Amino acid sequence: MKVVSGISSQEFGARLARKLGLELLEIEYKTFPDNEQYLRLKEETNEEVIVVQSITSDKDFVTLLLLLDALKGKEVITVIPYFGYARQDKKFKGGEPISSRALIEALDNKTEMVITIDVHDARINSFFDKTKFKNLTAFKVISKKLEKKDNQLVVAPDEGAINYAEILAGELGCEYDYLEKDRKTGTEIELEPKDLDVDQKEVIIVDDLVSTGGTMSEAIKVLKKQGAEEIKVAVTHPVFAQNALQKIYSAGADEVISTDTIETSISNVSATDPVAEEIK
Ligand code: R5P
Repeated sequence: MKVVSGISSQEFGARLARKLGLELLEIEYKTFPDNEQYLRLKEETNEEVIVVQSITSDKDFVTLLLLLDALKGKEVITVIPYFGYARQDKKFKGGEPISSRALIEALDNKTEMVITIDVHDARINSFFDKTKFKNLTAFKVISKKLEKKDNQLVVAPDEGAINYAEILAGELGCEYDYLEKDRKTGTEIELEPKDLDVDQKEVIIVDDLVSTGGTMSEAIKVLKKQGAEEIKVAVTHPVFAQNALQKIYSAGADEVISTDTIETSISNVSATDPVAEEIK
């Protein structure tokens, strides 16, 4: 078995290859003057190949399609640590595409298996017809970055992220909750932890990703107002568009923990372990 690291997952691919004791295949990448991408596998192989490429942009997706085409006819496992476009998983308004389905249909049948990590909704599984799909979680490795404390509590910013809170709290041996909208008056809505009191607590807020930082900074402000002593943010995918990181720290976060599914300066945990365990 060999590993191919796409451009967006150079470190992830290299770490995964090292953990599995496998060789990385060298790829030549260049961009034509008209901006089209070119790539070439510098060596051919008849072995099974693990392709690793996060989809953080349209360009990353084209790179992935080109890699899979260059490997056509081989057995391929495709690891997509961050699967972008996954949030548009249904038609919210008439005339919209189901973007995650569009990407999956382009990948289906080009690889034996697709592995993702904390994908926005694992039910995108149903869009695959011929390809096996496995979604893994990074919250067990994220838990190793956190010191266990007696006054700890894990909170999801909404009910949709409760499964991440449950996994992390299970690892830390603490309680978990989510923020729900509490209608104070006809027009006034407040966010509040559903059941638990956060006063004097170290609160770890979890989500699959931070994009604009709107969801997370709102959650931080609410929890601060309710007396949380310390706030840590733990998300799998550090999308952090524009000034999202600044927004989160300005709202009162003390620490941000995130993984290398997207390779950024705040990717302080590697999510390669669950993938290596799945492939072994
Ligand atoms: C939403 O469903 C996701 O889990 C995140 O909560 C959301 O996408 C974060 O986006 P933003 O940072 O722009 O609020």
